Parts: sequence; C-alpha cells; structure tokens
Amino acid sequence: MAINATIIRRSGEDFLNRFNKKPLVVRSPGRVNIIGEHTDYNNGFVLPAAIDKAIYVAVAAREDDEVKLYSVAFNESFETSLLQMEPTKKGWPNYILGIADQLKMNGYLLKGFDLVVDGDVPVGSGLSSSAAIECATVFALNEIFDLRISKLNMALMAQKAEHKFAGVRVGIMDMFASLYGKKDHVIKLDCQSLEFEYVPFKLEGYKILLLNTNVEHSLASSEYNTRRKQCEQGVEWITAHHKEVKSLRDATMEMLNQFVKPKDEIIYKRCKYVVEEKERLLSGCENLKNGDIEALGKKMFQTHDGLSKEYEVSCKELDFLVDEVRNNPDVLGARMMGGGFGGCTINIVKEEAIDDLIKEISAAYQKSMNKELTAYVAEIEDGTCVIS
Ligand code: GLA
Repeated sequence: MAINATIIRRSGEDFLNRFNKKPLVVRSPGRVNIIGEHTDYNNGFVLPAAIDKAIYVAVAAREDDEVKLYSVAFNESFETSLLQMEPTKKGWPNYILGIADQLKMNGYLLKGFDLVVDGDVPVGSGLSSSAAIECATVFALNEIFDLRISKLNMALMAQKAEHKFAGVRVGIMDMFASLYGKKDHVIKLDCQSLEFEYVPFKLEGYKILLLNTNVEHSLASSEYNTRRKQCEQGVEWITAHHKEVKSLRDATMEMLNQFVKPKDEIIYKRCKYVVEEKERLLSGCENLKNGDIEALGKKMFQTHDGLSKEYEVSCKELDFLVDEVRNNPDVLGARMMGGGFGGCTINIVKEEAIDDLIKEISAAYQKSMNKELTAYVAEIEDGTCVIS
C-alpha cells in the first residue's frame, strides 16, 4: 500500500515528544469520485475510490477525560474535555471533536485521549480531507477503546459529526469511500440502501490526473446546504402529486417538467441535473465494466457541464481547466470533482501525455487565471487501516 513513511515517522515522533508514550497510528485516505456528483444526498449512486493521499492520526488513551490534540499542518494545539464537547471556531479540531461527540451520543464509553493529526491530503482541494480525519479518528478510537463499531456505523457517525460540528449537511460518499476503499477498484454505492459493489478500475495506458485550482472554496458550505434544500423543495412539489416519490432518486424528467418547472426555473435546473446525473452514472458504470473508457470519459464532460450550468457549483478556474482539455485527444474525460466552487478537476489522461499536459496547462492557467496549478497522479488504494 502507498503509505507515506515520512509522515508516519513524523507523526509518531511528534506524538512521542509531546505525550511521552507510544501511539496507535491509523491511516485514512482521501477520495476521488469518477462520476455521480451531488447525487449522494439525493439517494442516488456514486462511484468513488480511496486514493494514495491520506490523513494519519497517532492516538493513545488517557486515564482522565482530557482531550489533547495537535495538528502538524496547522502547527497548532487544542485542548478540551470529553465532558465539554462542542464545536470550536478553530476549524480542524471540529472533525475530531465531532467524532468524540458522536461516540458519546451513541452511548460508547470512552476516556480522554491524546491525538496528533498529519497527512498529505491537500486541505480544501475537494479530495475530502475532512472525511479522512473523521474516519481516521473514529477508526482509531474504536481500536484503542475496543468499541466494536461496524464500518457502516463509523461512516454514519462521521457523516453526522460533519453535519453537527462543521455545519455542512454532506452525504455519505466521502466517509464511505475512505473507510471501504479497495486497491484498484471503485465503489458503486447505492446511497439509498447503502449496498455497494466493487468495480475493477482498469485503465489500460491511462491514469487519473487531478488538477488542483488552488481556489479556496469559501462559498462551498453555505451553497452546498442551499443546493440540498433546493433539491428537497423540488421533491416536495412532486410528492404532493406522487406520494411514492421520497427523493430525487425516484423522480423522472416528466415529473420535473410537470410539477417543478412551472413553479421555479432555478429549482428545476438543479433537479434536472440530478435526475440526469443519476442515469449518467448507471450507464457510465456499465461503460467501465465493459472497458469502454472513452464513453465514460464523454459522460464526465457532460457531468461537468451540468454541474457548471445547471447545478451552478463550478467556478471560472474549474471551467477553464475542463475547457483546456476538452478537445485534447489524450484526455478521455474531465470534470470538476466534489462539492465545487474550487478544488480539483479529475481527468483521465493517456499515461505518456501526462508530463507535457501538466507543463502546458500549468502555464496556461498561470497566464489566464494568475494562479498556480498543482497536479497529482492519483492511484487507487485501500481504505482506512491501522498502520502500527
Ligand atoms: C462533498 C460532500 C459529498 C458529496 C459531494 C458532491 O464532497 O461531502 O457528500 O455530496 O460533495 O458529490
């Protein structure tokens, strides 16, 4: 597995210096999503995978109720007590405190703990570093306190932790991908039943290239919650006529045209994107199973256009990066990935063309957007596990 030995050593040493004992180290990866964006909280399907960039937490139990945290990335400590779990203005501790709070709320008995968080998932890049911290924390606390929590319940608690402590009503995709990831496979997850299937991800001669806009997605949380509400509003208008429709998963274009379009054009556009994306994912997944990566790639461009023009969660930098590769024969597909308003595009690129593409597109991006681009070739890896 692609573990980052430098980070493991660093977080272990840091922990030893700070807390003077040997920790348990857990790795929990970031994720990519091939297709199926903003479908998870609409009870649709998603197609994510865990990657070779991860968060590492080093943890040990304490005898008292104190919680002592340190983030290597922010070079910052945070201290509180288990008896006083509430969100803080500081940001990063919330993902850890939110988990401790969930464990308490669900009746698990824990003591205080010391924890160092480190990692190489770029923060704010749409690779889901927050879910990775939550999953690493819940997995590690489950180990050291022998709580015997199933992976599915860990994912559900991590999702609730984010709702409550980060204030973003995220779906289940990121946590699920981080915990359940499997090397060289994507996860076809049904977000309604939570049943899933591992689909081999074979890209003969092609790789996943992530292009990070380095745009902070500051609008992301409030707009994310707004999109969720807009989808719920659309469903409500349909349910008034079709009781069986519980989410956009159950909705059809005819229903949208009949009950949503006349009421509100914007909500109609949002719902239309989701209903179309649901179908795109299902047929894109078949393309993948049949080895037709070209067809899958074309759908990724369509997803981008829907996210940009109808769901309106893109930004000029993401649109620029997708437009730059749209007619490049070495790029089979590209789109913005994750919540939106910044972060990365995901591209399926011919292996031998990657270096030149990175050079050209970085220069073009710098020239047109006056920003630096960061590029990563992502490998698909296993999900959360104990390292040492
Ligand atoms: C974020 C959320 C996910 C999902 C994506 C969009 O990553 O955390 O639950 O909704 O956005 O697909």
